[in-house]
Amino acid sequence: MKDFLDRSLKKITDASIRAAERAQKLDSFSHITTKESLLELVGKKLKDRKIVLVSNREPYAHVFQGDRIKVIRNAGGLTIALDSIARAFHAVWVCYGGANADFKVTDPQGLVSVPPGEESYQIKRIRLNRQEERGFYEGFSNETLWPLCHVCYVRPKFTPSDWDTYDAVNLKFARAVAQTAEKDSLIFLQDYHLCRVAYHLKTLRPDLITVLFWHIPWPNPEIFRILPWKKEILEGLLANDILGFHLKYHAENFQETVGMELECRIDWELSRVERGEQVTRVRSYPISIDFEDIYRQSGSLAALKAGSELAVEQRFQGLKLILGVDRLDYTKGIPERLDAFDRLLIAHPEYLGKVKLVQIGVPSRTGLEDYQQVVTNIENRCAELNGRYGQEDWEPVLFLKGHQDFNTLLPYYRLADVCVVSSLHDGMNLVAKEFVAASDNDKGVLVLSRFTGAARELEQALLVNPYDTLAFAETLHQALVMPAEEQKARLTRMRNTIAENNIYSWAQAILSDIIRLAEDQVLVKS
Ligand code: UDP
Ligand code: G6P
Repeated sequence: MKDFLDRSLKKITDASIRAAERAQKLDSFSHITTKESLLELVGKKLKDRKIVLVSNREPYAHVFQGDRIKVIRNAGGLTIALDSIARAFHAVWVCYGGANADFKVTDPQGLVSVPPGEESYQIKRIRLNRQEERGFYEGFSNETLWPLCHVCYVRPKFTPSDWDTYDAVNLKFARAVAQTAEKDSLIFLQDYHLCRVAYHLKTLRPDLITVLFWHIPWPNPEIFRILPWKKEILEGLLANDILGFHLKYHAENFQETVGMELECRIDWELSRVERGEQVTRVRSYPISIDFEDIYRQSGSLAALKAGSELAVEQRFQGLKLILGVDRLDYTKGIPERLDAFDRLLIAHPEYLGKVKLVQIGVPSRTGLEDYQQVVTNIENRCAELNGRYGQEDWEPVLFLKGHQDFNTLLPYYRLADVCVVSSLHDGMNLVAKEFVAASDNDKGVLVLSRFTGAARELEQALLVNPYDTLAFAETLHQALVMPAEEQKARLTRMRNTIAENNIYSWAQAILSDIIRLAEDQVLVKS
């Protein structure tokens, strides 16, 4: 008992020292873009212009829990990243209200203030009926565009009625934006659900500047050309003044696709597409996280205490921990990760009883068969691995299915020896960046799929091809035996990259381009 108390006391003292070290380290990141410097630089230029964010997914959902209403922060890179921006600029965020208590808390215009306790911005919720949700969200967005843009061999479905519903719902979003936007508001559309909103807005409110950020990969023209509604989608996207992608590679794929499918002029030098009167600037802006906030939170005494408590849990005692955190999506390569882990245990039996793979998985798009199948597949594979290798006091895999809030994720990020992101194709992947920002100063190895946008920035991660099981397993081994100094050196380099390219510098790059455009338009008009 005394031993245990001594150890706990030492952990808490170490934790306080580390918290102080982290606070000091933040000073060395003083040159990075922060919420304050963004507001100072961009806020002034925005003057009275309001930012209207638009996405299908809402950042906060209101759900009944018995008689009470609970607020949940939705998982998914888009809403998590943009929440920081909406809060900084007191934006209005137009989105679909799909949770069961969403309209119990809104005013007659569908508006509610969030986040709870802070109330720094407003959500405007749109109602969709079941048929709209089916054709627009499940159908065209997630059974057609999502598999078309992610190369992972799930066949896209092409259903004419889904397309009709998709376009009709995009018109509905455009009407809601037209009603919400004041004169000179800047409209910031998000992702593949809203390809046609700018096109409809051009008729309803030609005065508005619109930008669309594409959060997923843009495939090469050979892949995109099979879409029966490709012209309508491309015309819809080109109705935006600026189109943003994570990577230059995706922006170039888009321009090549347009060049192949539509009559237009592509200016490769200036990265613009001209079609009649319409000019669309096509740019790359790799999205990121609120580094400073995560770094600070992770160094807080509360997080360190939660980390210490997790570390002493019986099921993690004395084990090396490999962590996965994902939406349960077939693009995330979770079965491939389990295959590599299996192979690791075969090739390196010295890990039996010594290592645990903790897979945190949030159910996603649960109405769709492909998504149900991937969950069943993961559950079966975890049970099989535990059955085959498990010992009385050791289970190799722990599958934690369900949504975890960030405070729960944080101690796992800190405790993990290795974090694995093995997406088959991923626009960016914020989990990789969160792990680096949150991880213990000296400990942690990121094993990262080459097929993520994040791999272009985080060169010091151990990069893997998730389809190559043998090499993937050996990379896991390399991660598990990496010397402490090398872990620290790699983490430090990646941390500096993320600190500099954080969510506020992302927003600054896009908003500066929009403001420049708005200023040019005034010049042209006067
Ligand atoms: N996430 C979460 N709770 C969970 C699992 C994930 O809040 O239980 C968050 C995670 O912290 C990250 C986001 O969901 O911010 C996932 O973003 P990512 O870019 O990795 O993938 P996406 O889901 O957007 O494809
Ligand atoms: C990806 C997409 C987002 C989406 C998120 C969660 O990050 O790019 O647009 O919001 O997944 O998926 P969901 O279908 O739940 O909105």
